Amino acid sequence: MLMVDSILIFITSFLTIYYFYRVRRNPRNLPPGPWGWPILGYLPHLGSKPHLTFVEMVKTYGSIFRVPMGSQEVVVLNGYKVIKEALADKGAKFAGRPTWKSTSVFSDGGTKGTIFSNGSVWTENRRFEVTALKRFGMGKRSIEEPIIEEVQHFLDALEVERGRPVDTSATIECALTNIIAQMTLGQRFEYGDEELKRILEMTHEDAELVGPNAAISFLPLLWYIPWFRNKSCKLQHNCAELVHFITKYIDKHIETFDPDNIRDVIDAGILKMIKEEKNGRPEAFGKKSLAYVISELFGAGFESTSTALKWCVLYMVKHPEVQTRVQKEIDSVVGRGCHVSYDDANQMPYTEATIMEVLRVANMAPLGLPHATTADVELNGYTIPEGTCIFANVWSVHMDPNIWQCPDKFNPLRFIGEDGKLMKSKAFMPYSLGRRRCVGEQLARHELFAFFASLLQRFSLRLPEGHPDPPTDGVPGLSIAPFPFQVIISDRRDDKAA
Ligand code: HEM
Repeated sequence: MLMVDSILIFITSFLTIYYFYRVRRNPRNLPPGPWGWPILGYLPHLGSKPHLTFVEMVKTYGSIFRVPMGSQEVVVLNGYKVIKEALADKGAKFAGRPTWKSTSVFSDGGTKGTIFSNGSVWTENRRFEVTALKRFGMGKRSIEEPIIEEVQHFLDALEVERGRPVDTSATIECALTNIIAQMTLGQRFEYGDEELKRILEMTHEDAELVGPNAAISFLPLLWYIPWFRNKSCKLQHNCAELVHFITKYIDKHIETFDPDNIRDVIDAGILKMIKEEKNGRPEAFGKKSLAYVISELFGAGFESTSTALKWCVLYMVKHPEVQTRVQKEIDSVVGRGCHVSYDDANQMPYTEATIMEVLRVANMAPLGLPHATTADVELNGYTIPEGTCIFANVWSVHMDPNIWQCPDKFNPLRFIGEDGKLMKSKAFMPYSLGRRRCVGEQLARHELFAFFASLLQRFSLRLPEGHPDPPTDGVPGLSIAPFPFQVIISDRRDDKAA
């Protein structure tokens, strides 16, 4: 009996302390939100698709609310108006990233790269990446040729598989890795190359490791459980291996470096290293900084675009009528004999609209990447303190029935205006918005257009007889990818009508 009393006293004291801790810790005027459990917070209620749980919570708390997630208070933003006001209009105050143990592995403790850094490290690295990608990729002729060349390798690799059920994922990944490899390292890999295989293997491993690793950010005690610690160490090991792999390429580039012939992003980085050294700031951008920048461009650059192209394939086999209409547009604008060029995109609104609709409805990154406030900030009448972790629920915008008619329906025509031209929508935000907006957006759009249009120019895709319709909810990882599925590829050059 005494034992039961002691336990009850302990629990009551614990809950009372927890209550006062939370009330005292939280300044007034915070967004509303649920309480959650001590230690765990609201985590046990979020389910496997937190973005959907958040949409439900809007009904109770409104479009901005606070969710205790383990040791962290997270503020979730929902709906176009609020997300735009935060990330675009008040962008400077929402441009931070949380400094978590789980993300510091990608950024050497927040001191390297762009994606998970803050302050001047972020500004400088982002500026470098934007300039380098412009120079070697976005909107420039320089990437057009490597893309056309890689598209041919991609189509040839698929040609061999035609007529039998095939999962196109691996070929898509190899092809899109080669685009970023050409831009950054200045070389492509054969699809069976051992180094390329290892990079892709690590990316698949990382996709499984990010979940447990993120959990440690919210529940630091998990670090002491060997299963979680091993996952975290494995992720750390993979990041170190990628940085080591890139460093080998940097060393090779240094040996043959010529400031009058900047060949790729690594060379541009070496030039910056030399300049910083001359300016007496060698610590601002050294070899290690460059290795992290290239590693993240590499990872962010191929994982997201290949996932997007896999979704394009999936939606085309699910919607053969859309596929046929895209093919008709390709035939009438480019024909079947010429290479598809990004310049053709202007005259191919339906193809562009189809890619946009895939990105809208697939919602590959429904919560984007976490942001953090860089100062106390007012939003919709609430005060959000400096250093608060922010999730922008892009899913709530892309699937808002007040913006998109029947948002669940796959319908590329929603992006076509009455004049038949491509109609952009501010509520279309797969690349996010504001100061943290995706650095590689232009490159990604270029790649997706070239690979998608070339694929459907040459082939038709359908589900193998008797195979179930592939599901449209995907596998969470680095971004949400489709579950594995197979298609039958047929060469359109064999069509009688061709
Ligand atoms: C379909 C393809 C892609 C999608 C959907 C996509 C989406 C995104 C999203 C949602 C973010 C987070 C923005 C935020 O925090 O608000 C992001 C950030 C970023 N993306 Fe992409 N991305 C794609 C392709 C690329 C490519 C090809 C590259 C580089 C070659 C790239 C490099 C980056 C970088 C460096 C950041 C971090 C920006 C920062 O923190 O300042 N992405 N991307």
